[in-house]
Amino acid sequence: METQSASLAAALKEIGAEIDDAFDGLLAVPGDARARLYEAMRYSAIGGGKRMRPLLVVAGCDLFGVGRDRSIRVGLAVECIHVYSLIHDDLPCMDDDDLRRGKPTLHRAFDECTAILAGDSLHALAFELLADEATHEDPFVRAELVGALARASGPAGMAGGQMIDLMAGEIALDLAAVTRLQQLKTGALIGCCLEAAAIMGRAPAEGRTGLRGYARDIGLAFQIADDLLDHEGCEERAGKRVGKDRDAGKETFVSLLGAERARAQARALVDQAIDHLRPFGEEAELLRAVARFAVERDH
Ligand code: IPE
Ligand code: IPE
Ligand code: MG
Ligand code: MG
Ligand code: MG
Repeated sequence: METQSASLAAALKEIGAEIDDAFDGLLAVPGDARARLYEAMRYSAIGGGKRMRPLLVVAGCDLFGVGRDRSIRVGLAVECIHVYSLIHDDLPCMDDDDLRRGKPTLHRAFDECTAILAGDSLHALAFELLADEATHEDPFVRAELVGALARASGPAGMAGGQMIDLMAGEIALDLAAVTRLQQLKTGALIGCCLEAAAIMGRAPAEGRTGLRGYARDIGLAFQIADDLLDHEGCEERAGKRVGKDRDAGKETFVSLLGAERARAQARALVDQAIDHLRPFGEEAELLRAVARFAVERDH
């Protein structure tokens, strides 16, 4: 059962519209032979997804009084990396999926070459957004943002996790190895959302510890929920195929612990994540709501 507060629903809807508008403005289709590439980027980037990462960035930035026009740009950059990772994750050489966000995957709707280039281009767009003066007037802040997103996306983050994930069907992974896989594959980018918020807010080192703990716990909880969705979710509601992890023989929290214990683990992580927000008051209510949503969601 999904327990979603009215304010969280409103926040998700609002951020979804803002992200769609921003992509629409950035990805105007040119009148030349690159049109197909832009069309492909628009197909994947606009009008889908929960936009949970941008919401985390904006909600984190709100703690430090960062202006919305700027925090949205940072959220958009993280979403660019996320969408690129989904496009490549769905390719035949990776998960070979044909359904994403309720419609055919990009390589199915277009073709593989276009999908690879659209992913590459969204990856580049992420850093272009962060490097722009409109994101922050201080070049040191911009450099810190670029560094944080690069680390979270590369071999020590998402791409590294994807590498381990691809081996997960062939090698036996224990709980510690699956935890590490998930922390890299999904946790690193989620962690980056809060890290980027702290960078934008120029939060002192001691102000970042709680946010890091929060991000680590919801990142793991979020991926356990993804594995539970794959195990027992509804394809129509999830907007993507389910049962793929089992078919691929992949070890996940669900295969190792069973669904019930995996769910209990995810819920315990959410409680722990919320506990990390103790230094914050009312202003962190949205982050608390996102944490609950991360595991109680059905899509
Ligand atoms: C799916 O992410 C892939 C994972 C990293 C688990 P989301 O569940 O956030 O997908 P969208 O953005 O809502 O489509
Ligand atoms: C993908 O994980 C995580 C990424 C880095 C894209 P999954 O392969 O489990 O994501 P879904 O289930 O296809 O959305
Ligand atoms: Mg995958
Ligand atoms: Mg996949
Ligand atoms: Mg999955």
